[in-house]
Amino acid sequence: MMILGVDIGGSGIKGALIDTETGELKSDRIRIETPQPATPKAVAKTLKELVDRFEWKGPVGCGFPATIHHGIAYTAANIDKEWINVPVDKLFSSVIGQPCYVINDADAAGIAEMKFGAGKNEKGVVMMLTIGTGIGSAIFVNGELHPNTELGHLIFKKGHIAEHYCSDSVRQNKDLKWNKFGKRFGKFLNYLEFLFNPDLFIIGGGCSKNFDKFSDQFKLRTRITTAKTLNYAGMIGAAVNAAEQHAKAPAAAEAPAEPAAKPEAGTEKEAAEQKDKKQKKAEKPEPRKAEPEKAAK
Ligand code: BGC
Repeated sequence: MMILGVDIGGSGIKGALIDTETGELKSDRIRIETPQPATPKAVAKTLKELVDRFEWKGPVGCGFPATIHHGIAYTAANIDKEWINVPVDKLFSSVIGQPCYVINDADAAGIAEMKFGAGKNEKGVVMMLTIGTGIGSAIFVNGELHPNTELGHLIFKKGHIAEHYCSDSVRQNKDLKWNKFGKRFGKFLNYLEFLFNPDLFIIGGGCSKNFDKFSDQFKLRTRITTAKTLNYAGMIGAAVNAAEQHAKAPAAAEAPAEPAAKPEAGTEKEAAEQKDKKQKKAEKPEPRKAEPEKAAK
């Protein structure tokens, strides 16, 4: 089936027509800058612009950098906090006027790798990690996705949140040399290995093309490899997911946008703010450019 696959990221929104049987791109990739601030309204408008550039009429699959549970965003670590509690699939479907199926971006990338890339025919536990602005994760057990794992938010190494310690944005902002970055990332991998005992790690995201520059800095007993669908993984996996969802419930995503479950008291915005505060408290996030000195090992 042909689907417009879209990968929504912090800096760019990328799309291409994808053949979901083969994983091939059937068009050029188009990238539009993510609007700033990347509010729901602004991003939906940019998505519409992208769909119009393709003159596409049909289902759209979107990878989105947040927990997406039954179409609703519940986290907003690296995107505008206004997204929390937004029914993303319904919002996008109503703005673009086509059924749109939304999935966590790392889950999308993992689906692409399991179907067409480094995870093809792999059994057991496969863990896909995307290293970019944040760290995304996708876990597959015998090919089945356990959706919405947020392993980039694991707290380890003296209380550091993983993605504040060894994401690609931390590497860039702190100007870390590859060996130093590799040591950091290795500590994270060792911790994941200890907790989950996967059979295979697949590393994707912007950093993966430089894997050889830092992979000698850690030792694992788990096999590790890089994503084969490269930068296209998010778009391909989002399209594959959309094809599956569309076959199951073609009309589900066409309903007009409605707010998510109403908070008991106060406005939805207040609830989102409260949630945000709680999240901040739990994670003690720091601005990306100002990771505390103690993190620099
Ligand atoms: C988000 C994840 C996302 C990852 C990669 C994290 O900050 O919490 O949902 O998959 O970044 O974009």
